[in-house]
Amino acid sequence: MKSVDVVLGLQWGDEGKGKIVDVLASDYKAVARFQGGPNAGHSICFGDKSFVLHSVPSGIFREDTLNFIGNGVVLDPIILMEEIHGIEAIGGKVDGRLLIAKRANLILPTHRILDAANEAHKGKSKIGSTLKGIGPAYTDKIARTGLRVGDICSPDFRQKYEALRDWHLIQINALGYTGYDLAESEAKWFEAIEALKAFRIVDNEVEINRCLSEDVSILAEGAQGSLLDIDFGTYPFVTSSNTLCAGACTGLGIAPARIGKVLGIFKAYCTRVGSGPFPTELFDETGETMRRLGHEYGATTGRARRCGWLDLVALKYTVMMNGATSLIMMKADVMNDFDTIKVCVGYEMGGKKLDYFPYEAGTEEITPVYREFKGWKTDISGVRTYDALPQELKDYVAFIEDYTGVPVGIVSVGPDRDQTVVR
Ligand code: GDP
Ligand code: IMO
Ligand code: MG
Repeated sequence: MKSVDVVLGLQWGDEGKGKIVDVLASDYKAVARFQGGPNAGHSICFGDKSFVLHSVPSGIFREDTLNFIGNGVVLDPIILMEEIHGIEAIGGKVDGRLLIAKRANLILPTHRILDAANEAHKGKSKIGSTLKGIGPAYTDKIARTGLRVGDICSPDFRQKYEALRDWHLIQINALGYTGYDLAESEAKWFEAIEALKAFRIVDNEVEINRCLSEDVSILAEGAQGSLLDIDFGTYPFVTSSNTLCAGACTGLGIAPARIGKVLGIFKAYCTRVGSGPFPTELFDETGETMRRLGHEYGATTGRARRCGWLDLVALKYTVMMNGATSLIMMKADVMNDFDTIKVCVGYEMGGKKLDYFPYEAGTEEITPVYREFKGWKTDISGVRTYDALPQELKDYVAFIEDYTGVPVGIVSVGPDRDQTVVR
């Protein structure tokens, strides 16, 4: 009996999950997304090709890999179909290799409008959502009013759709939100629903557990990051799903005992897109340099990402919450030119020292306590073995391992598949 290994982000998303899942997928027979939706933007680069995936798992560019969209995902059929056409346009093969959960909830055009209406209503205190309808779609799931992929073949699907749409319109009108064109997106949505029927729509929990009992190895791919988790993230500035490892159980239909390795990904620094607390955020030239060198602009929305130093207090917290068994450090090359690199090793809040990520992070002023490391001042993007990495970087890695108690198994030195140092 095989286990499911899980790859997930330990920060606020965009750690490089797409790249690493694509790298590791060659060692697995299936990749499965377990939560989130098209709010995710997972970039993959190989040779002269690059692609940003939103709903399709990042195993799709490995020919022999099956790809599951799990029941924990919220699916926008319009975005999915555009994505599939995009993958095929660069030579990827989707047909027969993509399995979609009947139990995945659908994102309706009015979910997207409601997302925008809610954000507009919040004004200055908006979450900075990706406006993909994620919050409203999960709200309907929890309220037990949602539509699911398995419903699309039912004879009264259109009536169910219209009833839910009309309920959304009541809410949108109550918020005084105008200026949307529902007719056009509704037509596109039904076209995409028709196209969806050609795909393998399955009881994913049965298929996945069958795979495991037949010794088929599965890699679960998280979206967003642990600090955006609905329960343990910086609420209310979070997404609407459980991004932690536990989400892989409920989002795929596997028992906790079936979880194998938990691979936690983090950047050598920190970024966040959207509103909410970020203790180590930099508002100076150093943050600007990180943004420029790391091309820190959202893969889904194009928004500039907020940048700051690596926060080990937050990292240790998310390592604990996920039970990470090993760590993967991304974008180490972005630090190539820095004279010194700082890491946050403690917080001060209300005159007290803290060594954990507190509930009050959203409301109280937190002052990070830093430790400084000497930069390596060398271009590491061409390095392929751990031994050949500069000593300053190895010292940085050793400190992170010591602080978190978890080994770093991979260091990523560039966006391409090949720019990966496996220890
Ligand atoms: P994800 O959402 O976690 O999959 O991450 P994104 O794709 O949103 O953002 C990561 C960005 O960093 C993408 O543009 C990647 O191509 C890029 N990237 C990934 N790994 C590395 C790396 O090691 N070095 C550099 N310079 N860029 C990387
Ligand atoms: P990947 O998988 C970074 C952020 C949004 C916003 C908050 C809520 O690419 O790492 P939502 O649209 O989910 O209601 O937005 O969460 N957010 C992400 N930030 N990477 C992501 O995904 C994100 N998905 C959502 O910016 O602050
Ligand atoms: Mg992303």
